[in-house]
Amino acid sequence: MIRTLVTGATGTLGTALCQRLTATGHAVRAASRSPPTETEQNFEWVEFDLSEGTGIDTALENIDIVIHTSTAPQGDTAAVDVQGTKRLLEGAEKASVENFIYPSIVGIDDIPFSYYKHKVTAETAVEESDVPATIVRATQFHSFVAEMLDSIAKLPVWPLPTKMQIQPIDVGEVADSIVDHATLTASGRVGPVGGPEIHSVGELAQAYRESRSLRRPIIRFPIPSKTVTAFRSGNATCPDHMVGRVTWEEWLTNRYASGVDETNSRAQSPM
Ligand SMILES: NC(=O)c1ccc[n+]([C@@H]2O[C@H](COP(=O)([O-])OP(=O)(O)OC[C@H]3O[C@@H](n4cnc5c(N)ncnc54)[C@H](OP(=O)(O)O)[C@@H]3O)[C@@H](O)[C@H]2O)c1
Repeated sequence: MIRTLVTGATGTLGTALCQRLTATGHAVRAASRSPPTETEQNFEWVEFDLSEGTGIDTALENIDIVIHTSTAPQGDTAAVDVQGTKRLLEGAEKASVENFIYPSIVGIDDIPFSYYKHKVTAETAVEESDVPATIVRATQFHSFVAEMLDSIAKLPVWPLPTKMQIQPIDVGEVADSIVDHATLTASGRVGPVGGPEIHSVGELAQAYRESRSLRRPIIRFPIPSKTVTAFRSGNATCPDHMVGRVTWEEWLTNRYASGVDETNSRAQSPM
């Protein structure tokens, strides 16, 4: 049985990965600072902290594959995404890990957003390490776009950089692609995983507004930033890699049909 460590196991992608990996026969160890909230788990959980450097060796004990999804987009990204990734790579080398899988983001080298710069540095550390590795870039998750819209939903008008281009994808489909690479042979940098459609933020917001039966006006709020310009130019999309099948509208229908109306927002991004 392949023993797989999922870092960031309480996060959006980490949660989807743990479910799929256990279903496909991996012995999963999940790691994060706080424990998973699901009561029924068929995997082991260990506490670790990448910015403090604690618990890393224990997390890596007898592990064949690492899927490294820990990240801190609103926290200390240098400490978690860069230094933390380097610490994890050092430990993975000592533990003779056979495949270090690093999920990343489409277009990060062409978008001058500070979190993305740290992701590029982390990717380089992964590639330069002696640990065999696989890097999978994906476009923005549907849930991430929804969190950003949730955060403005109560405003009387929605000021948005409506021309930014996004290709949202279902996180489960990203997890499926990563699980396909979770073998004892690393694949290097593989093709990106993008959603089935490219939309402007204005279109995404309109569909979101309809699915919630809201009537707030959406107004174009141009943000003079190189990051926004890069998103507007489509740098965060991969039109030749429309891997996902679940559209934004389908995802919204499913979200609201199930009666789940999550309004928690952790997202603060260049949208
Ligand atoms: N979100 C998107 O739209 C998107 C799109 C493409 C690619 N990605 C990439 O996919 C990966 C996962 O993203 P996500 O959105 O699933 O992340 P997320 O939901 O924000 O989860 C982040 C995880 O990292 C853990 N974490 C935070 N600080 C930590 C620390 N100091 N030490 C150890 N663990 C820590 C968190 O758990 P604790 O707080 O309990 O430690 C959590 O489990 C990232 O590499 C991201 O760049 C995301």
